[in-house]
Amino acid sequence: NQTLTAELLSVALEAAERAGTLLKEGRPADLGVAATKTSSIDVVTEMDIAAEKLITGFLAERRPHDGLLGEEGASSEGSSGVRWVIDPIDGTVNYLYGLPSWAVSIAAELDGEAVVGVVAAPLRGETYRAVRGEGAYEGERRLRCRPAPAFEQALLGTGFGYLTARRAAQAEVLRMLLPEVRDIRRGGSAAIDLCDVACGRLNGYYERGLNPWDYAAGALIAREAGALTGGRPGAAASGELTVAAAPGFFEPLQARLEELGAWHD
Ligand code: IPD
Repeated sequence: NQTLTAELLSVALEAAERAGTLLKEGRPADLGVAATKTSSIDVVTEMDIAAEKLITGFLAERRPHDGLLGEEGASSEGSSGVRWVIDPIDGTVNYLYGLPSWAVSIAAELDGEAVVGVVAAPLRGETYRAVRGEGAYEGERRLRCRPAPAFEQALLGTGFGYLTARRAAQAEVLRMLLPEVRDIRRGGSAAIDLCDVACGRLNGYYERGLNPWDYAAGALIAREAGALTGGRPGAAASGELTVAAAPGFFEPLQARLEELGAWHD
């Protein structure tokens, strides 16, 4: 299996690098919204579509028997037991506005479990990667999450969904939590937020309403850097709730989010 994961990692890195270059160099100055999804603020640009096409085309060439799940609609079963989970641009709104915090996120799952994760953030000049059981890295640097802080010293990341009712509920949780911690960032890319937990740039991260392509790669990278990831107490990270933080801080954060009802709208 190490030969397989090494191959999957090299394919993921090359796909992310090619898509990252396209997105960085090919972004039209007058980039606009090509379509909307769940609401008028949930947008897709022509570059999301072009980057997903590039990635799925590359994967079809290199790994023709694998399954696919992509944010912009790629979906196929495959027969190899491997499935690729792809977000061509995580942080589309940042990309649209020209803010630098966006990433290409690619995970490979084997029998339903993430075994390889790559998050390439070209405008940060950083590509994060992890293989299950083998640690997380950025270039030569091994990533390790920051040790658990006192609750009131924690720097958190979070994000908001695109639906009005959900946002109102998320604002309510934020209203309660913000006075209890050091601060809360809203970076605009869940994949990068999870990598920031892995790097020790955030103590923790939580969000309700993510899709698998937003967190599959980043959550593996956070875990391989020593963080715990999950959802509500006892549950795995999911669209209901995704939480990532160092052991010792993960548990109180998860418990507080449960008390605040961060998992419902
Ligand atoms: C979004 C980003 C954002 C998060 C949203 C996601 P997208 O992904 O990860 O940080 O708050 O929930 O939908 O739409 O830019 O791929």
